[in-house]
Amino acid sequence: MSTSKKILVTGGAGYIGAHTVVELIAAGYEPVIVDNLSASDKTLLRGVQQLTGKTLNFHQGDCRDKNFLNFVFKTQGPINCVMHFAAFKSVGESVQKPLLYHHNNVGSVLTLLEVMSEHAVTDFVFSSSCTVYGQPDKIPVDEKAPFKRAESPYGATKQLCERILEDVHTTGFRIISLRYFNPIGAHPSGLIGELPIGIPNNLVPFITQTAAGLRKKLTVFGNNYNTPDGSCIRDFIHVGDLADVHVKALAYLEKDTRKNVYDVFNVGTGKGASVLELVNLFIRTTGAPLPFVIGPRRPGDVEKVYADPTRVNTVLRWSSRYSMEDALKHAWAWEQKLHKSH
Ligand code: NAD
Ligand code: WQD
Repeated sequence: MSTSKKILVTGGAGYIGAHTVVELIAAGYEPVIVDNLSASDKTLLRGVQQLTGKTLNFHQGDCRDKNFLNFVFKTQGPINCVMHFAAFKSVGESVQKPLLYHHNNVGSVLTLLEVMSEHAVTDFVFSSSCTVYGQPDKIPVDEKAPFKRAESPYGATKQLCERILEDVHTTGFRIISLRYFNPIGAHPSGLIGELPIGIPNNLVPFITQTAAGLRKKLTVFGNNYNTPDGSCIRDFIHVGDLADVHVKALAYLEKDTRKNVYDVFNVGTGKGASVLELVNLFIRTTGAPLPFVIGPRRPGDVEKVYADPTRVNTVLRWSSRYSMEDALKHAWAWEQKLHKSH
């Protein structure tokens, strides 16, 4: 019988979940993956298998389905910790389909907590987002910054989930919310990376698809912001670094003997980079052609945000290993590999 600790990874067939599964396996954990494949397929799971040489313990099902979750907890147990990535994440789509987003993102958290409680599982790591801050008054933004009214239903679901988690932790849960800034890049092997469905909303997949000839040109949304080059500023973090934080969060919870924990960490590099800086770095480092134009601002975009990562650096003892250049190289290698294999 295996003695390694089992970690339930919801949304493990998706972008960040799949990268985290790789890091968990490398650190000696045994991931149990749950995903309903509503925003993914099995491509990344196959990549993880190739990368790790492990047969994955995967269960297809919905995190709002209590019977399904009960079955997984009963047959797989004991589960040491739940890492909850499963959610819908498109800001624009959430404006069109607010009920779907609230139902999926908030409903999944509620159902998972109920089932965890029934199976006496206490430890939970939640995928939150810097979107909870909106446009912060002070940059770099630290965890004490107040939530501004969310710009989108997606942002509202993350705020609501965090509130729920904070409320329930006093009843015996040990919870960490990780507020991710802008994850980019892919595994250095080129075997797993971002696989958006349809036209990408996010900057880097739009760039790599444009350079690969799938899109005609990139539009930079605005160059008249109050920033040095006029384009928006973000904190771009390599997805491999982000995956690594999850392993550090587990180690932290394992060492912590408190019965009730609610802890929040910003997960960013602490360095702001502008959209135009990133675009030019992509062209310089990959040599790939990237036609782009300057367009109007995208409604709802914040002008400038980057993390104060002091807490994650000192408390979780994590800092980023990869540069933005690495992330762009890896994202491009992944995009190229995708086209070779299809
Ligand atoms: P993703 O869409 O690649 O992965 C999410 C996975 O969850 C998908 O495989 C999807 O099929 C699955 N899923 C969705 N609803 C489900 C449900 N009810 N039951 C089971 N599976 C379900 O997204 P990602 O980029 O890997 O994001 C992971 C998490 O991180 C999400 O919670 C997202 O909101 C959060 N986040 C992402 C970003 C980002 O820019 N990618 C930034 C901040 C926070
Ligand atoms: C980055 C910058 C765009 C596409 C979103 C969510 C946030 C979090 C991360 C989940 C912006 C510009 C983009 C393009 C562009 N996700 N851009 N042309 O909006 O910072 O954050 O993903 O929690 O909650 O809001 O990320 O990658 O969409 O945009 O100029 O074709 O790139 O205007 O300034 P964003 P993004």
